[in-house]
Amino acid sequence: MYKLTGIKMEENLRIATIVRKTDENQTDDLIIEEAAGILRAGGLVAFPTETVYGLGADALHEKASMKIYEAKGRPSDNPLIVHIADEAQLESIVKTVPDKARALMKAFWPGPLTIIFRKSDTVPGGTTGGLDTVAVRMPEHKIALELIRASGLPIAAPSANTSGRPSPTNAMHVYEDLNGRIDMIIDGGTVGIGIESTIIDVTCEPPMILRPGYITKEKLERVIGPVAVDKAVSEPVSPHVIPRAPGMKYKHYAPEADFTMFSGEADKVARHINRLTEEKLRQGFKVGVIASDETVDKYRSGDVVSLGTRKNDITVARNLYRVLREFDNKKVDYIFGETFTDDEFGQAIMNRLCKAAGYQIEIVT
Ligand code: TXA
Ligand code: MG
Repeated sequence: MYKLTGIKMEENLRIATIVRKTDENQTDDLIIEEAAGILRAGGLVAFPTETVYGLGADALHEKASMKIYEAKGRPSDNPLIVHIADEAQLESIVKTVPDKARALMKAFWPGPLTIIFRKSDTVPGGTTGGLDTVAVRMPEHKIALELIRASGLPIAAPSANTSGRPSPTNAMHVYEDLNGRIDMIIDGGTVGIGIESTIIDVTCEPPMILRPGYITKEKLERVIGPVAVDKAVSEPVSPHVIPRAPGMKYKHYAPEADFTMFSGEADKVARHINRLTEEKLRQGFKVGVIASDETVDKYRSGDVVSLGTRKNDITVARNLYRVLREFDNKKVDYIFGETFTDDEFGQAIMNRLCKAAGYQIEIVT
């Protein structure tokens, strides 16, 4: 059983999960209609988005949203992101749309940007974890958009993983975590971006990034001017740093192994990791090593995996959660990893890596 934060999972909760495969470029209407029917009836459907797979339910139906918390083992004070397919759907769920939000929507929707608004009374507290704000995103993935449109509903969808595990980047990851707990999985292949959307709060001034993602601070500032970043993005949560996105306070994106990252000059880092790996192997532990295409040949032992080339952060992001999951499946005891650059999209990658490692980073000199 995986480590859970907060609520306990009911072990006897088992339903038959339907798995259907369809292609993003040629979606099967029958499959979309079947899934939309499940959503309208208050059921749970996992579907691909361009960031990670989401676990969808009717966002306006409190009982349906509550089922998401139960299936994921998610603490119920952690609000859900509401997914929409067109701007008309937005008007009914928010109180006002600030000018800066309009500019962001025009620039980045559909796409991997979630915007926090003041919520209208139609959105139940069960969907927003009791907050008076609501997080909204218009995804870019065709299967996601067609499913939302066919259902005729705003769809609440957190990442489709068991709470505390890395987010799913393919349908098999969803199946591993949620088979028997949800009604349906739409298998639309591997996602494009691989880490969750950027979250920006426009209810405050200046607007504030609560979670970094593919839409970087630089890109946002080009559209709306200065943007702040929540402290919890770059620091471990402590009594002094309380994140504005409740989800960021939980130990998220966590592999089962004890994960430490090492930063410094590439040759020195590799030598240090090799030494540690050999020591742990001698003690009988299983060790995973996270490297990059540029450095992978420097490692001598352990299960060495490259996240991709340092020249392309998209590849690194896309491989990240899959690699962490594979280490879990292989029951690795220790993961030793390199750090990656933290400019632009790299900020989001390092944010997820730091959280996965519980902020254990050592500088090698
Ligand atoms: O890319 C994504 O955003 C994916 C796909 C499926 O769209 N979804 C996703 O959802 O990552 P989830 O539930 O794993 O993460 C949602 C985050 C949590 O950290 C939550 O606390 C925060 O959004 N959040 C949701 N509503 C909020 C609100 N009203 N105020 C502040 N934070 C909020
Ligand atoms: Mg999540």
